[in-house]
Amino acid sequence: MKKKDKFIFTCQACGAQTPKWMGQCPECGAWDTLTEGRLLSGSKSASRVNKLQVQPVAMDSIELQEARRVKTGIDEFDRVLGGGIVSGSLILIGGDPGIGKSTLMLQVLSELSDKGNKTLYISGEESISQIKMRGKRLLSEGSNMFVAAQTDLDTILALAQQEKYAAVVIDSIQTVFNPEASSTPGSVTQIREASMEFMKLSKEKGIPVFLVGHVTKVGAIAGPRIMEHMVDTVLYFEGDKSHVFRILRSVKNRFGSTNEIGVFEMKTNGLAQVSNPSAVFLSERFPNAPGSIVAASMEGTRPILIEIQGLASSSSFGTPRRTVLGLDHNRVALIISVMEKRLDMNVSSLDIFMNVAGGVKVTETAADLGIAAALASSFFNKAVNDSIVLIGEIGLTGEIRAVAHVESRIKEAAKMGFSQCIVPKNSIKQITKVKNINIIGVSFLKEVMEILF
Ligand code: TYD
Ligand code: MG
Repeated sequence: MKKKDKFIFTCQACGAQTPKWMGQCPECGAWDTLTEGRLLSGSKSASRVNKLQVQPVAMDSIELQEARRVKTGIDEFDRVLGGGIVSGSLILIGGDPGIGKSTLMLQVLSELSDKGNKTLYISGEESISQIKMRGKRLLSEGSNMFVAAQTDLDTILALAQQEKYAAVVIDSIQTVFNPEASSTPGSVTQIREASMEFMKLSKEKGIPVFLVGHVTKVGAIAGPRIMEHMVDTVLYFEGDKSHVFRILRSVKNRFGSTNEIGVFEMKTNGLAQVSNPSAVFLSERFPNAPGSIVAASMEGTRPILIEIQGLASSSSFGTPRRTVLGLDHNRVALIISVMEKRLDMNVSSLDIFMNVAGGVKVTETAADLGIAAALASSFFNKAVNDSIVLIGEIGLTGEIRAVAHVESRIKEAAKMGFSQCIVPKNSIKQITKVKNINIIGVSFLKEVMEILF
C-alpha cells in the first residue's frame, strides 16, 4: 500500500506544529497563523547507508583544537563571549526593539576594524546613509568597515564571502528574505532557513557571524527563540528603555560560561562600558540603612543580586498587619515564627512590611536568610554591613539548609563588588573556585544573627 503524503500545519509566529488546521495557534494563541506544509516522508534508508561511512572516533584519540579568539577591545563584550569572539562561531543577539543592538554591533565592528580587520555590517532596516549618520555619532567611520543595505539572503551570503572578513553582522535576521521560500519575511520558515545558511557560512568559512534578532514581549513576531538551538552563543541585550543602563547577558555559550554579564550605559555618543555594575542593580540602595540587605537570587540560570527591605513597627491594631511585596507570603510567615521561637525575638506582634526593591519577584527559598536578616535589622534598628550578601534557606528548627547554584550566586556577589557572603555550611562543599570574596558558612539562624548584629 502506498503511504499517503502527510500534511502538517506550522504556526508562523511561534513554530508550533499541529496535524490539523486551526484558527488559533494552540501554543502561542496567535490567530490565523497556521499554514499548510508537506511533511517529508521520503525513504530515509538510502541516505542512512551512506552516512555509515562516517565512523565514530575514540575519545582519547581526538586532538583538541584550542578555539581561536579575537578580542574586540570592549571588555564587557569580550567577557560575556567568554574572552573574545571565537572564529567560525554563530552568535545571536536578541533584545527589544530600540534597546541598542545596532549601536552595540556597530561599535564592536568599529573596534575590530580600527585594529586592521576587515568587517562587514549588513542592515536590512537602515539605509547606508543612515548607518553613516549613526557611525558619525559613534565616532566609528573606519575604512576597514564595510556596510551594505541588503535583505536578500543569497546576495548577503555572496557579499559575506567576497573578502576574508573578521566579523559579519546581520541586522536583523527578521529582515533577511529568501524569495524561493514561500513565506513572508520574519516568518518562522524564513528565519529558520536563513539561520541555517548563516550557520553554514560561519562553520565552513570560519567567519564569526552575529545575527541581530528582535524579541517582542507578546511574541507577536517570530522571535529569535526558535533559532536558539542552532547558534553557538545567545546573548540578550536588556534594559529599561527609560533608564540609561543596558545589560548584555549570555544565556547560552558553547565557548564559555553563561554567568557573565556586561553592563553598558547609553550615552549621546553610543554605549559606554560600566565598570562597576553593582551600581546598577543596587543603585537606589542607601548604605547603612536598617532593614535593607542584599540577597542573591536565581532567575532561571542567571544569578541576580536583589535588595530585600523589611520594616517591623509596633502595631496599633489587635491583629498585626503583614504586607509582603515581591516575596512569598507563606515563607515570610514561616520565618517570622521561626524568629519568634528560635531567636526569642518578639516580632509576631508587630506590623511587618516586606519589599523587594525594584519590583523584582522572588519565589526561591534561598532568599529566606535575606528575609530574616532584613526583618531583624529593622527590629534592632541596626544596619547590616554593606559588604555582605546572604544566601540560604531556613528550616523550622532554625537550621540553615543548603541551596542550589551557590557557586554562581557567590560569583555574582564577588563580581558585583561584595566582599563577604554568608552561605549554608552544607553548601560549601559545592563551591570549587571562587575568588575575591570571603565565604562564611553557617548552620543556624542564631549564628547569622551573631555575625550580623
Ligand atoms: P538602536 O541601536 O537603534 O536599537 P536596536 O538596534 O536595538 O533597535 O538604538 C536605538 C536607541 O538608542 C535610540 O532610541 C537612540 C539611542 N541612542 C543613543 O542614546 N545614543 C546613541 O549614540 C545612539 C546611536 C543611539
Ligand atoms: Mg537596530
